[in-house]
Amino acid sequence: VLQRCDELALCTERAGEITRTFCSGAMREAHQRVERWMRDAGLTCRIDPAGNLIGRRSAAKHDGGRVLLIGSHLDSVVNAGRYDGVLGVMLGLALAEFANEAQAQWPFALDVIGFCEEEGVRFATPYLGSRALVGELTPELLARRDSGGQTMAEVVRAFGGDPDRLAECCYDPQEVLAYVEPHIEQGPVLEREGLPLGVVTGIAGQIRGGLTFRGRAGHAGTTPMALRQDALVAAAQWIVEVERFGRSQAGLVATVGRIETAPNVGNVIPGEVRALLDVRHLDDAVRQAAFDGIAARAVAICQERGIAGAVDWTQQEPSVRCDARCTESLSQAVVEAGVRPFCLPSGAGHDAVLMARRFPACMLFIRCAGGISHHPEENVAQADVAAALDALWRFAARLAAEVRSAS
Ligand code: GLV
Ligand code: MN
Ligand code: MN
Repeated sequence: VLQRCDELALCTERAGEITRTFCSGAMREAHQRVERWMRDAGLTCRIDPAGNLIGRRSAAKHDGGRVLLIGSHLDSVVNAGRYDGVLGVMLGLALAEFANEAQAQWPFALDVIGFCEEEGVRFATPYLGSRALVGELTPELLARRDSGGQTMAEVVRAFGGDPDRLAECCYDPQEVLAYVEPHIEQGPVLEREGLPLGVVTGIAGQIRGGLTFRGRAGHAGTTPMALRQDALVAAAQWIVEVERFGRSQAGLVATVGRIETAPNVGNVIPGEVRALLDVRHLDDAVRQAAFDGIAARAVAICQERGIAGAVDWTQQEPSVRCDARCTESLSQAVVEAGVRPFCLPSGAGHDAVLMARRFPACMLFIRCAGGISHHPEENVAQADVAAALDALWRFAARLAAEVRSAS
């Protein structure tokens, strides 16, 4: 598993770092490598019309057409670590290989999914791959443009997908026994507990929004300070307030992770700033109130400074609870793997957020060193990965026993 994560780290669109965004050449390379491993493991591979890579291990006879889904995402943030997302896909593949070696006669198929997009880098909207699987990759989203001006639909088509056939990505909820997502997270908490694994209770919701500050560009040498409408100074003042909001309540986090200024030239007063805001909290009402408060401050600061400012768009995902039965079964599997079961919520977003809307979904966290993620120093211990695989193996075995006893 770890060697494969190392190998996938070589699939990048920027030399010297790991950056693998939606429908990029780097993603195509990653697909080629993962597909080869999947085929070597005897899985039947397909890339669905949205660009998700799926490898299937068939069920034993008389399976009733049910399937266990396991996976995570293959895309990354910019200058990422090698495990966020990828580790979950490689654990799914390893589970299929274990099942083959043990000649497991599970009464369900196993689909190992490498989601094409979870991070929201290219279109500022996260979970595009899992959105397609639950039928929520809408025409409105497909019309969104990346920073190069291409629409999502164009990008999907150029990658070999088909935005007109997205309905084929959807699984029938009757067919899906469970979705389980192994993922690194919560390093500091699990380190404090001395545990390699955590069982996830729920995932914090998030609101992302795009804001524009529109001032007036002008000569940096000749425009007196009192006469300026500097959009970047307004945005900077607002960003300090975003941090203040984020600190004002336990469990709330608020981030401005990206700004673009125009014309972005050293001797011209910034005329326009576009910013991306990301607000998260487990409680939907608290998160919404924080977002509204932060947006109102942007408008007020713009008014004070005599410039225009507005929220252009928002994308929200409510908090989700993991499926109680699956999560209980996963906890038991963790116990059987010799690990004290420890339940905790997720602060990050995961494909499980979307999958939970349609399918019984659960998540297994694998401790990552110091909790570092979205950074090249992401790290995970081999023994912890082994414990995760052991627990997933037992989870699948428990599910097989449940299905058999039900029939
Ligand atoms: C994805 O990792 C996110 O939480 O934004
Ligand atoms: Mn991530
Ligand atoms: Mn992730």
